[in-house]
Amino acid sequence: NKVVLAYSGGLDTSVILKWLQDVYSCEVVTFTADIGQGEEVEPARAKAQAMGIKEIYIDDLREEFARDFVFPMFRANTIYEGEYLLGTSIARPLIAKRLIEIANETGAEAISHGATGKGNDQVRFELGAYALRPDIHIIAPWREWDLTSREKLLSYAEQHGIPVEMKRGKASPYSMDANLLHISYEGGILEDPWAEPEESMWRWSVSPEAAPDEPTYIELTYQGGDIVAIDGVPHSPAEVLEKLNKVAGANGVGRLDIVENRYVGMKSRGCYETPGGTIMLKAHRAIESLTLDREVAHLKDELMPRYASLIYNGYWWSPERKMLQEMIDASQANVNGTVRIKLYKGNVIVAGRASDTDSLFDESIATFEDDAGAYNQKDAEGFIKLNALRMRIAAKKGR
Ligand code: ARG
Ligand code: SIN
Repeated sequence: NKVVLAYSGGLDTSVILKWLQDVYSCEVVTFTADIGQGEEVEPARAKAQAMGIKEIYIDDLREEFARDFVFPMFRANTIYEGEYLLGTSIARPLIAKRLIEIANETGAEAISHGATGKGNDQVRFELGAYALRPDIHIIAPWREWDLTSREKLLSYAEQHGIPVEMKRGKASPYSMDANLLHISYEGGILEDPWAEPEESMWRWSVSPEAAPDEPTYIELTYQGGDIVAIDGVPHSPAEVLEKLNKVAGANGVGRLDIVENRYVGMKSRGCYETPGGTIMLKAHRAIESLTLDREVAHLKDELMPRYASLIYNGYWWSPERKMLQEMIDASQANVNGTVRIKLYKGNVIVAGRASDTDSLFDESIATFEDDAGAYNQKDAEGFIKLNALRMRIAAKKGR
């Protein structure tokens, strides 16, 4: 019996690897993905080999992540509970998909992951996995074992010869998750919603106070609702995210500190840096403001919170998410043009928007100057009177 483990190469998933071998006496296949977390994935190979793993998958999924997950999500101006740009939520369905693909390739009947029993990630991994392979077995060690504290985990590691310095990156007091779209921080002092994080927690952005005194301007070119060029230079989706993260982070853009509602029912406090995504949300709304029909735009806005909850709660691979996606994608055919953005001390300011081919903005109609008959102001009289009719009738009745 074989199990495919989502393996980061860090301490937690190394303990899981060993635990699966011991408790389930199964053959483990490891899967490590580069989704832009900014850490080397190759070291995971030697670590897995050292633990006797024969089948090791290391994938660069950055383009697929940006193109097939992040970009489609931004077409909907997606935001959860008014604030969260879903950086972790949108990566999980891709990991779930690869876990199942690898299980199918290697003849494994189970998958395993390092998400706890308290969070959203377990739900996202597992709903995705079941949707893509209904008979898959799932092993979630955090819901099974008795390693209920950091202490116990470390001593298990020591007893089983797992080097404790395998803890990835700089030692951090936070539970973190990073990819091309965001980096998240939870736990530690953040468990007190009143406590402000220390400046040193943030890794991807300078503070707005420390940002340059001069603004930075960038131009984003949209085609079918997606950014295809920055300052006139074409870029792939993953490159777009990388470039925007850099320029936004340098200007103090993208920090967020919230208390959110997890799907399992608890509230949790999280801090996030989503520098590029913060620009993308603002800029996409700006190009839509010029190119989308009013009712199409408003309908999208009404459905967006539903779409956001589907992604947050782990339903990316559900029929209702796919149905909404088709609608959202269909709305984007005319979303073409350029947005000029000014970045300044944590702010994303729209400085201009233009669309040669698809703008619905008609200056000859909208002008405050003489419109030469483009719009007949007399038409408004009847428009208003008929709209007022029911209110006038009610008013006459004393209501
Ligand atoms: N609270 C966020 C979410 O549910 C971030 C989760 C971070 N996950 C992690 N394994 N550190 O999407
Ligand atoms: C976890 O519990 O594994 C991380 C947090 C979450 O999934 O919400």
